Amino acid sequence: TRPVLIDTDPGCDDALAILLALEHPDLEVVGMSTVHGNAPVDATTENARAILELLERTDVPVARGADRPLLVDLETAEHIHGEGGIKGDLPKPGPATRPVDVHGARFIVEQARAHAGDLVLAAIGPLTNVALALAIEPDLPDLLDELVVMGGAAFTRGNVTPLAEANFHSDPHAARRVVRDCSPTVVGLDVTREATLPPSRLETLEADGPLGRSVREWLTYYEAEYLDRYDIESAAIHDALVLAAVADEEMLETEPYSMEVGADDGLARGALVCDVEGVTGAEPNGRIAVDADYDRFRDLLGTTLERRLER
Ligand code: BDR
Ligand code: CA
Repeated sequence: TRPVLIDTDPGCDDALAILLALEHPDLEVVGMSTVHGNAPVDATTENARAILELLERTDVPVARGADRPLLVDLETAEHIHGEGGIKGDLPKPGPATRPVDVHGARFIVEQARAHAGDLVLAAIGPLTNVALALAIEPDLPDLLDELVVMGGAAFTRGNVTPLAEANFHSDPHAARRVVRDCSPTVVGLDVTREATLPPSRLETLEADGPLGRSVREWLTYYEAEYLDRYDIESAAIHDALVLAAVADEEMLETEPYSMEVGADDGLARGALVCDVEGVTGAEPNGRIAVDADYDRFRDLLGTTLERRLER
């Protein structure tokens, strides 16, 4: 099994990513660090805990992380994911999931050291915790087996500005630092926007009980106008594609690129700039997902959900 730490801001698609990782036989989730993003960090931490309670995985440690970006002001996305950062009623988390007594960034460093060379860090929120972890431990990239990031839109349009995707836009300075220094695999909107479950598959999912009801809400977190805007038939489950790719190396096609994240204020804040033509002559500093096997993704997420909900 691959040990994986999820840095997250749940978030409906985060919730499905977490579920996918916890249920996958080849992954061992060693913990979660939480970050501001879809909602303030107190809410995303509470959501992460509630998800663990719903899934009866209160053994997984949660570390509360950064409550704001490195330099810019906090902006959240409750208008998309629902009040409190997630759609639907979640259980009130109990003492079993009380966060560990260490900041999310330090937790990342501790886990990277404990699993030196083996740990996959899946970062599916703004990159503040990862940038702070890198500041604490400059050898972080060497300690990790892989850093996989949901963020950016290298070849297509953004979802916050025409150029910028939400996670990179939220904390552009953190994203810039991490992309530059951590050799990440970047999984952006170019591929995640199509990571949907068809409505027909959605309808057949068991919806009895609290988990079934929550899953249904998480899968339908976009309003109709959003679906219209992007010409897709159901919500993009961005973050789940990242964890699917961690579990299954056939899931994504990636290419090495030289890339950088814009940190100036304005339309290009948080934009992932990728040197497609090689005009800078700079060496690649990471990989970008250029295509995904969407049937494979739908099959994995669909069967995982079916199995879990029938249990
Ligand atoms: C990303 O932003 C968040 O709203 C989602 O959870 C995902 O991580 C998509 O742009
Ligand atoms: Ca997220």
